[in-house]
Amino acid sequence: MASADILTISPSITDTLHLDNPSPTIPESSTSSKRKYSSDSPLIDMSNMAPPVKVAFNPADHLSFKPPSKVFTMKDLGLPDDTGVSAVAVSEPFQLFTPEAIQRMRAEVLSTRVWENCQYSSNLSQCQLRGFAPDYAPFVYDAWKSPETLAIISEVAGVDLVPQMDFEIGHINISMQSEEQKHESIAAFAEKKSREADEGVAGCPWEDDNPIVDWHTDSYPFVCVLMLSECTNMIGGETALRTGTGEIMKVRGPQMGCAVVLQGRYIEHQALRAFGTTERITMVTSFRPKSAAIKDDTVLTTVRGVSNLPELYFQYSEYRLEMLEERIRKKLKEMQEQKRTHRGFDICAMKKFVKEQEEFLAKMDQQMLEESKVTKGFCDDSHLLSSDLKEKSRKKARTAVASETV
Ligand SMILES: [Fe+2]
Repeated sequence: MASADILTISPSITDTLHLDNPSPTIPESSTSSKRKYSSDSPLIDMSNMAPPVKVAFNPADHLSFKPPSKVFTMKDLGLPDDTGVSAVAVSEPFQLFTPEAIQRMRAEVLSTRVWENCQYSSNLSQCQLRGFAPDYAPFVYDAWKSPETLAIISEVAGVDLVPQMDFEIGHINISMQSEEQKHESIAAFAEKKSREADEGVAGCPWEDDNPIVDWHTDSYPFVCVLMLSECTNMIGGETALRTGTGEIMKVRGPQMGCAVVLQGRYIEHQALRAFGTTERITMVTSFRPKSAAIKDDTVLTTVRGVSNLPELYFQYSEYRLEMLEERIRKKLKEMQEQKRTHRGFDICAMKKFVKEQEEFLAKMDQQMLEESKVTKGFCDDSHLLSSDLKEKSRKKARTAVASETV
């Protein structure tokens, strides 16, 4: 998936969400993970939302950028220097949008229209909201398309970036817990910590045995994960990164209005559970390099099963063909200029160019699986890089199947 983290809400729960209801209560419920919420009890606090007045995104009013305290490079993670499209691996959380901008985004993406038309689930994550911009969320769309926003994201990422495609603007992940579950999870977390200390394993690289999103690489080069929830008291919720030596490095999650930039296509990562909060909503927007000259290793592995396929394939084809067009025009000009200046024709260079574009087109063909070959809501493990993680993933899948058949 394109996301750096994910939701734990079940589809059965989402059926009963009243997102346009301004009443702010979160219902108490049973402790069962398959709990049912009352159909007249909204889960998401809408009480502090901006009024439904159409306001255009204005960088002067809605951006509030403070540079990250640190940016980790691929080299810092023990990965080869030439991995990916930038030397930057991941940033510490940094302030990006104002509180007003966040409330306007929430009002757009948590609307009934988005919930009814843009909800997806998969084996990697139970519920996501995708593909709502620009139709249902013009403010969100303008916020991520703004040249000022893109300049900030590019500065942090160390390479000029543009949104991957409109379909990937503002992918939403939601994790909800009742007050009762919140307290239970805090107690369970404290108990786990205490047990680990007793057993002398505290300080060992901690691995979440039940993460929000398991180990994966993203389909797209970069993601920007923006926090839309108040999570001052949140415990956990970090992103775990696997370094070049196989060690695990944790990057803390962002606070409301803050963001993290991650070159997730090239780094295996995992979204760790968050405790101590009833609501955790993140907006994940994916990016690719602006320059057509830079390689595009985009795959559609993690998103095919949770997308409107004709729309996804149209937007993927559109930008890839634009890249190809730009490359061909540039190459043609170079070739003609060489001829005009009597510098002959470089056969090797042209063959190399043709070969590269052949591979570029072949990759497009591979990525656009026929609809009949795409299982809705299913993602295989081809997004993993390490053989041991692939094996772990397959083992988990086998265990899940076995437990279902018992
Ligand atoms: Fe991710």
